[in-house]
Amino acid sequence: MHIQTLTTTDASRYRALMLHAYEAAADAFTSTAAERAAEPESWWLRRIAGPDSLSTVCGAFEGDELVGAVTVEFASKTKLRHKAHIIGMFVLAQARGAGVGKQLLDAALAAARAQPGVKVVTLTVTEGNVPAIRLYESCGFQPFGVEPMAIHTPSGFKSKVHMWLPLQSADGAD
Ligand SMILES: CC(C)(COP(=O)(O)OP(=O)(O)OC[C@H]1O[C@@H](n2cnc3c(N)ncnc32)[C@H](O)[C@@H]1OP(=O)(O)O)[C@@H](O)C(=O)NCCC(=O)NCCS
Repeated sequence: MHIQTLTTTDASRYRALMLHAYEAAADAFTSTAAERAAEPESWWLRRIAGPDSLSTVCGAFEGDELVGAVTVEFASKTKLRHKAHIIGMFVLAQARGAGVGKQLLDAALAAARAQPGVKVVTLTVTEGNVPAIRLYESCGFQPFGVEPMAIHTPSGFKSKVHMWLPLQSADGAD
């Protein structure tokens, strides 16, 4: 298994992976498969490698197969540029429990650290999603609030836990 930043040549397999994710883990995501399936190819290309470089997608590959992915988004607005946001974390069921999610998160955090000026990484996770919350906690994310009724899924209203990770430079300075 290896992790690498996706390029435009990966767009169709990234789309296939995420459309599966929105169905298979519907409570974990704010988008539905139908909404994302309606997006044009340009939407997927922009997420992977937009001209403004405001998002990076890290992929986990078993040979040629994309078995997991995570996206880190950056802000364009001056007052928000110190924050990066992690979205779209997914690992295929058959690849779970082997460290793939952790390696993806490490890669996303490395991408955030490499972006000049980024001091904080945030994410949201559906309340009760223990594997994901444990994964984020294992990398140092801390919860700072819970949004009630954040999403309305086929199984009802779900709250979202908001988590954050302040980044420190190698010498410990902020
Ligand atoms: C959450 C998810 C990405 C984890 O991927 P994974 O490859 O299985 O995770 P890893 O094997 O790297 O596990 C890393 C850590 O996460 C935690 N973890 C992972 N699966 C867990 C589980 N079933 N129960 C409890 N903790 C778990 C553990 O702390 C683990 O570290 P450890 O193995 O040293 O105990 C995966 O379960 C998934 O894709 N779930 C569906 C989509 C989803 O919920 N995405 C999150 C959206 S916010």
